[in-house]
Parts: sequence; structure tokens; C-alpha cells
Amino acid sequence: MYNMEQLEERLRNMIRSERWEHSKRVQDEAVKLAARLGADVHRAAVAGILHDCARDMGYEELLNKACEFGIILDSVTLNSPSIIHAVIGPEIAGREFGIKDTDILNAIRYHTTGRENMSLLEKIVFIADAVEPARSYPGVDKIRALLAVDIDKAVLQSLDNTLSYLVNECRPVHLDTVKARNCLLLNR
Ligand SMILES: [Fe+2]
Ligand SMILES: [Fe+2]
Repeated sequence: MYNMEQLEERLRNMIRSERWEHSKRVQDEAVKLAARLGADVHRAAVAGILHDCARDMGYEELLNKACEFGIILDSVTLNSPSIIHAVIGPEIAGREFGIKDTDILNAIRYHTTGRENMSLLEKIVFIADAVEPARSYPGVDKIRALLAVDIDKAVLQSLDNTLSYLVNECRPVHLDTVKARNCLLLNR
């Protein structure tokens, strides 16, 4: 068990206050989902609060961290700062917060893109980030409605929204997002 009080105090000093508030909402959502779906509530609380621990680093800082940690970023990730924070996140969680639990680290790692064969905890953090109460983008209510019934359908819908958005914006799609979607579609 990780000491939540210590962990949260440390995180609070690392990220902006709006990010902190968002992280708390994602944590609450993740804990509720974990309790409902029979996942580990403590892991959901840790992954939920830490998922954006690298989100307030600037692009340069993220690149420097990748270099320092020996991480090679693929070309799509390099062009998407919003994906880089998810790649650096588990390193920060491990090095600064002492998180060793692989499922928690993967939930942080794949909270933006998703990936093939996501664990239940990975899906929980991914979808909690997408539907936390302050989220208000077109289509969020449909995802919330699906989540009330079936987390896989909700994750799939969220991936569909991301894909449509990226295609419309003429932006590259990360392979992990495509693989996550194919995997959920084919396993239905
Ligand atoms: Fe994030
Ligand atoms: Fe987030």
C-alpha cells in the first residue's frame, strides 16, 4: 500500500492547482469505477491521482526527461506533447513517488492513447480522465451513458471520438490508439 497522504502532498507541489483539481476528480471517478467493477480501489486511487504528474512540464522539459531516462520517442509522440506527458509520467511516478506496481505505471502510461489488451485498471484511468465531471466536450454525455452500462463500449466510443477529432484536424493518430480500438472492436 502506498501512503496516499504523502504522495498527494508531494504531487500537489509539482502541478498547477487546476491540474491538481482535475487529478482529484479523475481519482474520485477511478475509485468509484474500481469499486463498481471489482478492480483494486487503492491502485485506482494512486493511478488516478498520478496520471497527469508530468502534464505541467513544458515541451523542452519533457524532451530532456525522455533523454535523461533513455526513452526513445516515436515520431507521432514527438509531435504530440499531450502524448509525451503520458510516456514520461510513469518514470516520474517511479522515480519521484516510488511507484513500482506495473499495472499502475501502465495505467499512467496509456491514459492518453490507450493500447491493445488494456487491463481493467488501464481502462478505468483512461475513461475516468475522459469523463470526470468537469469534462464538457461534444459527445461526453454519450460516453458517460455507455460507461454506466459497459466500460469497454465507453472506451471504444472515446477512442472513436479521438480518432474522428484527429482525422478532422489533419493530425497523426498514434498506433496504440488504432490498436486499442481494433482490439476492443474485435473482442466484442
Ligand atoms: Fe493526461
Ligand atoms: Fe488528465
